[in-house]
Amino acid sequence: MTKSPLRSKVRAGLHRCLIRFGIDTRKKRPDRVALEKIIFPELQKDPQYQSILFVGCAWYTLHYPSLFGGKKFQTLEIDPAQACFGAMDHRVGSCEELEAIFSRGQFDCIVLNGVFGFGMNTPDALNRTLHGIHYAMRPFGLLVFGWNDLPAHAPFPPFSVESWNLLEPYRFPPCNSERYSSDSINRHSFHFFVNRP
Ligand SMILES: C[S@@+](CC[C@H](N)C(=O)[O-])C[C@H]1O[C@@H](n2cnc3c(N)ncnc32)[C@H](O)[C@@H]1O
Repeated sequence: MTKSPLRSKVRAGLHRCLIRFGIDTRKKRPDRVALEKIIFPELQKDPQYQSILFVGCAWYTLHYPSLFGGKKFQTLEIDPAQACFGAMDHRVGSCEELEAIFSRGQFDCIVLNGVFGFGMNTPDALNRTLHGIHYAMRPFGLLVFGWNDLPAHAPFPPFSVESWNLLEPYRFPPCNSERYSSDSINRHSFHFFVNRP
């Protein structure tokens, strides 16, 4: 659902202002803490991840570009009204159309968190997205896929689609696992994959 651009801009301005005055408005749910305190620091630290695409923007992702100083951090969001929460290098578009928006192999890492079940809701849409990820990410680039295993946000079992065979599960060092369950209430988990050549 498209949000009001004016409302989003006011919200972005308000959060920027509050953060500048030391009032932290960021979400503190366990899945967000896992993303910001475990996953992002590893991406920032590891030199193999220089070019990162983050899909889906909201008020609580406003500060994400600032966590990736020295790296190329781009954002993509289907709703134009959410662009004010994106990076300087932001594209309005769908993750189902990555081939049309980006170049082959341009990313070392793609973070697709909270998009499945929040707009990208059909097996066809997920298949198209995975094909686009395979195209836009270099061989052995990292996909971070986060989702909520709740009836409202899991329209079908995400790993039932065949295009996952374009990627390979990857043991992500800080979690020492291919999967990290961050939140038992929201049933949120992160899954890590590398791109097959
Ligand atoms: C729950 S928010 C998640 C935001 C963020 N990715 C995060 O880590 O929480 C979902 C966002 O994904 C966006 N979205 C939904 N379908 C999309 C698509 N096909 N391509 C790009 N963005 C999409 C929605 O507009 C919404 O802003």
